[in-house]
Amino acid sequence: MRILLFGKNGQVGWELQRALAPLGEVVALDRHGAGPLCGDLSRPDAIAATVREFAPDVIFNAAAHTAVDKAESEAALAHAINAEAVGRMAHEAANLNACLVHFSTDYVFDGSGRQPWREDDPTGPLSAYGRSKLAGEEAIRASGCRHLIFRTSWVYATRGGNFAKTMLRLAAERERLSVIDDQYGAPTGAELIADVSAHALRALQLGSAQGGTYHLAAGGDTNWHGYASFVIETARRLGAEFRASAIVPIPTTDYPTPARRPLNSRLDTNRLRETFALALPDWRVGVARMVQEVIER
Ligand SMILES: NC(=O)c1ccc[n+]([C@@H]2O[C@H](COP(=O)([O-])OP(=O)(O)OC[C@H]3O[C@@H](n4cnc5c(N)ncnc54)[C@H](OP(=O)(O)O)[C@@H]3O)[C@@H](O)[C@H]2O)c1
Repeated sequence: MRILLFGKNGQVGWELQRALAPLGEVVALDRHGAGPLCGDLSRPDAIAATVREFAPDVIFNAAAHTAVDKAESEAALAHAINAEAVGRMAHEAANLNACLVHFSTDYVFDGSGRQPWREDDPTGPLSAYGRSKLAGEEAIRASGCRHLIFRTSWVYATRGGNFAKTMLRLAAERERLSVIDDQYGAPTGAELIADVSAHALRALQLGSAQGGTYHLAAGGDTNWHGYASFVIETARRLGAEFRASAIVPIPTTDYPTPARRPLNSRLDTNRLRETFALALPDWRVGVARMVQEVIER
């Protein structure tokens, strides 16, 4: 199997390089590409030409414009990367009878209510980023290519920066941290996303599962304050020392940002777990592991 991976150095892309290795020949690109192959999704024509040139059996797209606040002032660029280039990949995949595996987000929903969102629930993105990601999904579905779209949430990885590492740094520097407590979701590890999507691809290729859109998030839920508290408690148990004596819960309205974010980002993952016969561990399992890796470095 020939696999073309876009976005190889992102959180999910990095883990996909590992998880996809046993499945076949993987050619992994970052935005700088490799030789004649273009990896820059802000150039949709060149991305289409790259897919034609390489003629993969499977495309994994882990590249995205993920700077949610910046996307408000760069909506055209976010749309080119998250929607237009994705649509072109999907069109070429349909022509080649290749499968496209793509990642989307809880931010396609408006965050109303308290129930976990199911795949067929009505979408209603609140931000330019969310609208561009939804347009990407729609372009894939319209192309008719074989596909898997995984909507995930609150992604973290040991490599690179993330919310948990920021909290550890701030707790070491400050007496008091203020963290939002009214946005709910499940922190989900890039490792889990990569492993589950590799297993799901395998099931699809073996004919034991159907393509489509699936929600992929760790089990349980929390809010950002609960997440930060868990990270700091875990680090303390491992011997880390912090200045911070208080982690103060605040509402979203006390922390204005250019992009609006959903209050309810809970994703219902029943469809994925049943279709692929997979388990999604509680969010604390992966976060505790990531904190230990960060602390012991
Ligand atoms: N992060 C989250 O909390 C989250 C939540 C829900 C869903 N998702 C989705 O999950 C997927 C993976 O996200 P992630 O967390 O792994 O994101 P990430 O760590 O921000 O990685 C995104 C990658 O895309 C690359 N990229 C940006 N612009 C590009 C361009 N013009 N051409 C090619 N590559 C470009 C970035 O490269 P550079 O490093 O060179 O900029 C980066 O390597 C994305 O589809 C994202 O929308 C993420």
